[in-house]
Amino acid sequence: MNCAVLLVLTVWFGSQCGGNALSSSCPAPPSEWCSSMDTAIQCGVLKHCLLSNVTRSHQTENAVEVGLYYESLCPGCRLFLAEMLFPTWLLLNEIMSVSLVPYGNAKETPDGQKYVYECQHGEQECLGNMIETCLLNMTRMAFPIIFCMESSTDVIKSAQSCAALYSPQLNWDKVMGCVKGDVGNQLMHQNALMTEALNPPHNYVPWITINGAHTEDLQDKAMTSLFTLVCSMYKGTKPAACGGPQKTSYKTYCHNK
Ligand SMILES: *[C@@H]1O[C@H](CO)[C@@H](O)[C@H](O)[C@H]1NC(C)=O
Ligand SMILES: *[C@@H]1O[C@H](CO)[C@@H](O)[C@H](O)[C@H]1NC(C)=O
Repeated sequence: MNCAVLLVLTVWFGSQCGGNALSSSCPAPPSEWCSSMDTAIQCGVLKHCLLSNVTRSHQTENAVEVGLYYESLCPGCRLFLAEMLFPTWLLLNEIMSVSLVPYGNAKETPDGQKYVYECQHGEQECLGNMIETCLLNMTRMAFPIIFCMESSTDVIKSAQSCAALYSPQLNWDKVMGCVKGDVGNQLMHQNALMTEALNPPHNYVPWITINGAHTEDLQDKAMTSLFTLVCSMYKGTKPAACGGPQKTSYKTYCHNK
């Protein structure tokens, strides 16, 4: 995921002074640019792919883990995911990991080997939760896709085109197979178990955990400025985005003539 995000930024920077970011021989969509050395070279993004691969391998150890327990149609969840969590992650993905658990205030009832789910905002929400759960299981691009869905007018109707945008090689029929089948049902049960295991138990959503812990103070800080919270909780050397040492000077300008 880091790659694609970085690459989106690359395209943006590349276009700033009329530069040409994309070589015409680039054979792959942005989500695959870092998938191999060859593609990276053909698309003119090798340096960025190598860099982001390096940052990724540095990441895991002290990364601040942000957990979001939510449900797909809850307005507060959508707002937090789209306007706080995702933008923060774009800037700080080197030092934070995100874990999404779509379930929230749903209820499950065992029915033979399977479970029946009932959702706070009705059937459509159960469907949204299930699509997102399957995406999380099926593609590394799940977070951008879920961001795209949650920030669209219609979470469900946008799902397929959001997936096509960020993960063109993902087979939508397979996603729906998961959504309607036993795999999705079992994956949702895992979400139910994780949500029910929260300590303290959640009494609203979005419910946020930081490194697995939830306190009123952490929730409050996360809702106010997740960016500040993650920067302040990160134990390693602060990245440039947090005001740490900068690898490059950002002060370059395109002057008018
Ligand atoms: C980045 O890492 C992935 C997975 O480890 C690897 O397959 C890919 O070749 C790497 N890309 C580059 C450009 O080194
Ligand atoms: C997806 O779900 C399957 C079946 O439950 C599980 O074995 C697998 O580890 C999951 N993969 C990911 C990436 O979550």
